[in-house]
Amino acid sequence: MKVLVTGGTGYIGSHTCVELIEAGHQPVVLDNLCNSNPESLRRVAQITGREVPFIEGDVCDEALLERVFAQNPDIACVIHFAGLKAVGESVAKPLEYYYNNLLSTMTLCRVMGRHGVKKIIFSSSATVYSGDNEMPLREDSKTGNCTNPYGWTKYMCEQILRDVAKADSEWSVVLLRYFNPVGAHQSGLIGEHPNGIPNNLMPFISQTAIGKREKLSIFGNDYDTPDGTGVRDYIHVVDLARGHVAAANYMMEHKGEAVFNLGTGRGYSVLDMVKAFEQANGVAIPYAIAPRRSGDLATCYADPTRSREVLGWEAQYDQVDMCRDTWNWQSKNPNGYDE
Ligand code: NAD
Ligand code: UD1
Repeated sequence: MKVLVTGGTGYIGSHTCVELIEAGHQPVVLDNLCNSNPESLRRVAQITGREVPFIEGDVCDEALLERVFAQNPDIACVIHFAGLKAVGESVAKPLEYYYNNLLSTMTLCRVMGRHGVKKIIFSSSATVYSGDNEMPLREDSKTGNCTNPYGWTKYMCEQILRDVAKADSEWSVVLLRYFNPVGAHQSGLIGEHPNGIPNNLMPFISQTAIGKREKLSIFGNDYDTPDGTGVRDYIHVVDLARGHVAAANYMMEHKGEAVFNLGTGRGYSVLDMVKAFEQANGVAIPYAIAPRRSGDLATCYADPTRSREVLGWEAQYDQVDMCRDTWNWQSKNPNGYDE
């Protein structure tokens, strides 16, 4: 089937294009390149042997979306990755985040509805869960109390999409709550290349390994966790991408709204990840303990039972795969796509 992939030149979107093609589907990408490089789609073509049609433009541009759906009447569903995602930046520029993330989602749904395409998968995040839940997090764990505007945009978009599905029973809405996506395609051709200083752990580790950063700061070693450092549910991006293929298949058979965690169900500490990266790749990661980062939780990991039982999806890759594939991409593409 033909799948419109918004944000498809980005990190998770490009990996999802590969998995869609491998599963026999036809992605069409719409992206304004505000945080990505179209080279990613040339690499997708190199991996799969298939060109991915690319439209450069903004998902908030209603007239453009009208043209996209008019010219592609066979679009069966949409995977909506497009959005701004930097937590710190969202605190500094809340209006940009609310404007971009909410308006893109609402504009997309309005145009989809007019064209009778009423199937959407939305990129949500474990960040929508309230910080006072028991672990592991289930889809019915408490949400809200977000600590930053980025988190609120995900929370609000979930609500908007739920209301859309409630108002019109023809809609099928799948909310996917990602835990911590890491790693890269095994080819080393596509991967994550954050702009500037990475905020997230794995890109920081790999940039330290390659010498771009002097050392990793570990944000706190006095949490109530086995070694005192924060524990997270890291998930290989290829597993995550396959979760979208499973969700797209599910949407073809089910209407209404559904929410799924995409995580492994295993938590690793920051020190676990540093050691695993060093061992898997034979490189050293200098680090120092730094103060806690505001907004961080001690522990966060998924209960992935529902995804396994309902979507038939389960993560296949382990911590060694995540570390090896991150390094394979980083060492082959020290400057990401900007060679
Ligand atoms: P990314 O920045 O690599 O990809 C997002 C893409 O959306 C980029 O290519 C960007 O250019 C595009 N974009 C942004 N606003 C747009 C707009 N208005 N119109 C068109 N294109 C636009 O990020 P990613 O890591 O691939 O994340 C994809 C989605 O998953 C995002 O919605 C993000 O919030 C969500 N998510 C990511 C993570 C993570 O850790 N990476 C975790 C949870 C949720
Ligand atoms: C962060 C965001 C979350 C977002 C997710 C994916 C915050 C508070 N949360 O989650 O909203 O959905 O990224 O983009 O920003 N760490 C270090 N040193 C570093 C970087 C991270 O010690 O340089 C630690 C953190 O304290 C944490 C763990 O590594 O314990 C993972 O951090 P990170 O990769 O930023 O992910 P989250 O904090 O889980």
